[in-house]
Amino acid sequence: MAEIDLQDKKPDSATRGVYGLPARWYWERAIYQAERRQIFAREWQLVCPASDLARPGDYVAAEVAGYRFFVIRDRDGVLRGFHNVCPHRASQLLDDGAGHCDLLRCRYHGWVFDTAGNLRRAPDFGEAAWFRKEEHSLMPIRVETWRGLVFANFDASAPSLVDALGSLPNTVKDYPIESFTKVRQVEFEMACNWKNYTDNFVEGYHIPGIHPSFHAVIDFSRFETTHGDALVIMTAPQKNGSIYGGLWLWGWPNFTLSVYPGGMNCSRIVPVSENRTRLVYNFFFLDVSDAAAAQNESTIETNCDIVREDFGICERSQANLEAGIFQRGPLSPKHEAGVHYFHDRVRQALARQGIVEEEWLGR
Ligand code: FES
Ligand SMILES: [Fe+2]
Repeated sequence: MAEIDLQDKKPDSATRGVYGLPARWYWERAIYQAERRQIFAREWQLVCPASDLARPGDYVAAEVAGYRFFVIRDRDGVLRGFHNVCPHRASQLLDDGAGHCDLLRCRYHGWVFDTAGNLRRAPDFGEAAWFRKEEHSLMPIRVETWRGLVFANFDASAPSLVDALGSLPNTVKDYPIESFTKVRQVEFEMACNWKNYTDNFVEGYHIPGIHPSFHAVIDFSRFETTHGDALVIMTAPQKNGSIYGGLWLWGWPNFTLSVYPGGMNCSRIVPVSENRTRLVYNFFFLDVSDAAAAQNESTIETNCDIVREDFGICERSQANLEAGIFQRGPLSPKHEAGVHYFHDRVRQALARQGIVEEEWLGR
């Protein structure tokens, strides 16, 4: 579907300024429900590296904004995705996380499915002439892979993954992503809206204040933020061979990819509710020999420390967004172009459901 052009409704930024989303969009249940339908039910979700699904029967079960799903490698080697919902009475089939199974057995009443999603057995269901197993397969979702990363989408009519990734493929075409090996997954949970954390990720304005150790190892005077199609791009030269010289990317609507010398990390920003967010980080390195292990662990820890610094500040903002005093704030043209771009994408998505912020229309 074509994006709705809001330009004609937008106040002239030269005279009115550029402002962020209204505070209530960061905690209202109705906004969160609209985002579930208009964003998370229809956009591609980063699931895991394909290396997590190497053998037939390997699966990863995950969740985003209340939608539970899993991706599994079928016996024929093909990656398949399904809603993690039993078609009998809606139980969750697999616990979240990675695992392996040749058949899936629902623990509620014992229905058994194969890795292609077919119902094989409905034990002790009883005689019923109207019941046909082939009408009760698992509900499929789309799965595509880009450069070794697996994505899923619940919308059968969504554009292909590579189209949806916009400027990303070209931006990282010279980086040897496939040669990196996943070393570890780390999860975090924080008490803030998913947009609050995203706002933080797509700007470097806070680096001097919140990440002093990170600030010390990059040339912050040359930190640059731009955006492409569905992508925010942040770069800064490194000082003294720091691991953090590199490229930090955010992709619409909720994944990140950071590439630095010798490795990368990627994350899925998972809305859990209107005021809780989980981050699922995967760390990858070029050299995964024993000799490099200590350095790799140190890189992971340094990165996790930075994420924790971000949480702290996002949770403080969240409390004030919910308190009802703050309404909206101005966005820096020098540092917050990424926030501006992200907010416009959210505005476009919610406008499809008729939700347009009153203040922005000048009412
Ligand atoms: S809900 Fe799965 S077998 Fe009944
Ligand atoms: Fe940060």
